[in-house]
Amino acid sequence: MENVKGKVIAITGASSGIGEAMARHLAALGAKVSLGARRMERLEDIVEDISNNGGQAICKKLDVTQPDEMKDFVEFTLERFKTLDVFINNAGLMPLSMINAYKIEEWHRMIDVNIKGVLHGIAAALPYFEEKDKGQFINITSVGDRWVGPTSTVYSSTKFAVRAISDGLRQEVSDNIRVTIVAPGATESELAETISDPELKEMAINQFRTNLLPAAAIARAVAYAVSQPTDVDVNELVVRPTAQKSF
Ligand SMILES: NC(=O)c1ccc[n+]([C@@H]2O[C@H](COP(=O)([O-])OP(=O)(O)OC[C@H]3O[C@@H](n4cnc5c(N)ncnc54)[C@H](OP(=O)(O)O)[C@@H]3O)[C@@H](O)[C@H]2O)c1
Repeated sequence: MENVKGKVIAITGASSGIGEAMARHLAALGAKVSLGARRMERLEDIVEDISNNGGQAICKKLDVTQPDEMKDFVEFTLERFKTLDVFINNAGLMPLSMINAYKIEEWHRMIDVNIKGVLHGIAAALPYFEEKDKGQFINITSVGDRWVGPTSTVYSSTKFAVRAISDGLRQEVSDNIRVTIVAPGATESELAETISDPELKEMAINQFRTNLLPAAAIARAVAYAVSQPTDVDVNELVVRPTAQKSF
């Protein structure tokens, strides 16, 4: 695909689901991918697979809640691949619950990973993008960046925040730095595993998380945004399963 081949793309939360699918798809299109997440064995297996298929991939342990680890992840990518073209803030979790279940620890974790993690990614990559006056952020939000319903209050609020951060960033940076959000609908991944209430988890999986998109569908949307010429900034892509009508 035009403008993807040879690009260096760093992806947070690349050990499963959408992050893994993006790593595999972008590498198959000729990008050099740098994968970060906490589960190193998963990352190493994905890197090995990509390499066995002729692609170029590297990985580093990363907890996005730690700004220093995010900085190290960007430095590691620059050391190994000599440049950075695209930074994908993808790591996230979705422990849905009603507010009056008072799962305060889970609220904190969502805020730490889904919002602060994205800010840490921006803080780590933006200085390099500004230095070379070129680059692209892709922030994976959710249809929950514009929709809220019972049990998704805190999760949606983190995604509303990332949408706001992305649009503010887009306006603040130079004319040569692109900012894109990709907002998936229900997509195959391990995301529902983060729901701690067993009844809610079952309901989410059996009622709401049906007709799932394959994670590769989101990877293709991301590749489209990356593939545009530098003066074309695809600001938002919302990708739902065709049958997902209500949220
Ligand atoms: N699947 C959907 O239906 C859907 C819909 C809308 C939006 N999204 C968004 O898509 C993104 C990816 O989620 P997914 O659906 O692919 O779910 P997933 O399979 O559970 O993947 C989540 C990824 O985030 C990583 N992660 C979690 N906490 C982390 C931390 N502290 N530091 C670094 N990495 C961390 C996980 O890696 P480790 O555990 O190895 O660290 C994993 O690689 C999320 O932002 C999610 O909100 C998904």
